Amino acid sequence: MDFRHQIASSGALSSVVADVLLVVVHGDGVDASLDAAVASPLKEAVALGDFQFKAGRTLYVQRPAGLKAARLVVSAAGNSSVKAFKSAVASGLAQLKGLGVKHVAVVNGNSSAVTEQHAEAVTSAASDAAYLYRETKPSAQPAPSLAKVTLICGKPEAKDVQRGLVRGAAIAAGVTLAKTLANLPANRCTPTYLGVQAKAMGKDYGLKIEVMDRKQIEKIGMGSFLSVAQGSAQPPRFIVARYDGAAKSQAPVVLVGKGITFDTGGISIKPSADMDEMKYDMGGAASVLGTLRAIAELKPKLNLVVLVPTCENMPSSTAVKPGDVVTSLSGQTIEILNTDAEGRLILCDALTYAERFNPACVIDVATLTGACVIALGNHHSGLFSPDDALANQLLAASRAALDPVWRLPLDEEYDDALKSNFADMANVGSRAGGAITAAKFLQRFTGKYRWAHVDVAGTAWKSGAAKGSTGRPVGLLTHFVLSQAA
Ligand code: BES
Ligand code: MN
Ligand code: ZN
Repeated sequence: MDFRHQIASSGALSSVVADVLLVVVHGDGVDASLDAAVASPLKEAVALGDFQFKAGRTLYVQRPAGLKAARLVVSAAGNSSVKAFKSAVASGLAQLKGLGVKHVAVVNGNSSAVTEQHAEAVTSAASDAAYLYRETKPSAQPAPSLAKVTLICGKPEAKDVQRGLVRGAAIAAGVTLAKTLANLPANRCTPTYLGVQAKAMGKDYGLKIEVMDRKQIEKIGMGSFLSVAQGSAQPPRFIVARYDGAAKSQAPVVLVGKGITFDTGGISIKPSADMDEMKYDMGGAASVLGTLRAIAELKPKLNLVVLVPTCENMPSSTAVKPGDVVTSLSGQTIEILNTDAEGRLILCDALTYAERFNPACVIDVATLTGACVIALGNHHSGLFSPDDALANQLLAASRAALDPVWRLPLDEEYDDALKSNFADMANVGSRAGGAITAAKFLQRFTGKYRWAHVDVAGTAWKSGAAKGSTGRPVGLLTHFVLSQAA
């Protein structure tokens, strides 16, 4: 999609040329500074009881008198925050679904208050509205025609707005990649497929991509990762991708994504209800690859490494069994009491592998625990880190990206749950605090660098009628990585 900005005040909207003029209004009445051609149909609608200044309310007008734009959409924001502005843009765009609209011009009721954040919000709302999954559904409507979005801003000096549009477009491209990978069914999106896609992205952007097969993973000694992979006929892959934007001497940020392309639970098999959604168990992998794409487009001066351990978790005669003890790459042994706690088993070896990059920090992202969904629901992702400074940087990135995370504790008391009589640790504790004990398990492999863990089990996809990947947390990760540039 093409994102531009145009200088115009909210008092001079009549000359804006577009298929739709989408005006976001705030407060509880028609602003005196609003162009009369917008204000008068809005006042009429209010008088008729067809419009209220309440979040989510929209007004649609065809061929509005006095406007060059063929349609006018007015959308109410609950307050003056960027978050409310973004939801109002999304509600306005939802009105246009299925219409022949190619070019939308978006204006904030107070156009001089448009910032970099507003610009990024518009790109993300527009890209979400235009997203259509077609890969295995040829009957889906042809690609939506929304192709161009113009943001109207009142400031003659709009460098910050331009910056927001560029960053937003890159994040939107990363989110779209993450959504597409995650929405693909597991018979299409296999570990092999993820490896091929990573290679293809490397070619497009000039990145170094290494895709290791089972033999190479064995040679490295990733016994924990391989124990999950051993139950499936689909061969595992370990993807190592690098973006080099700074001197080799500069320590890279390392992102690690859980890439379980389907999680049956293994021998500790899951109930069958909703098991289809376990195709999304590679959402962490999709998000770190999406972030790599966003960063490769923005070309900041920093180094980034993306690690993806990817395999299926299947029950079979070769599958790992409850009680089996495996040796991780770190040398620590693990008693696998529950084969459904497989995410941590593939991540722990990738986290040990990350040591060889002498990282500035390591962030892992995983659809790791149902317990995290119980704790935080589907709005905030779970954030875990023993490092307050790193956690605060991630929280700041989360706020800037409108991609919420909530920090949960990692006190040493929680570690007791992982005691085993037969190995250095068990892979599960009791049910209590399950998201935290999973993070405590990972922490045992992260002693050599600054580390944080993001549990996206509740936020990587939506269930129900709107079932589909959200592409989260590409926004959070991209903002965080950009904040690490010198
Ligand atoms: N991929 C699941 C976590 C999950 C479950 C994400 C439901 C989203 C929705 C993970 O591999 C898993 O199965 N975790 C177990 C851990 C348990 C056995 C300690 C869980 O959460 O039940
Ligand atoms: Mn599982
Ligand atoms: Zn899983």
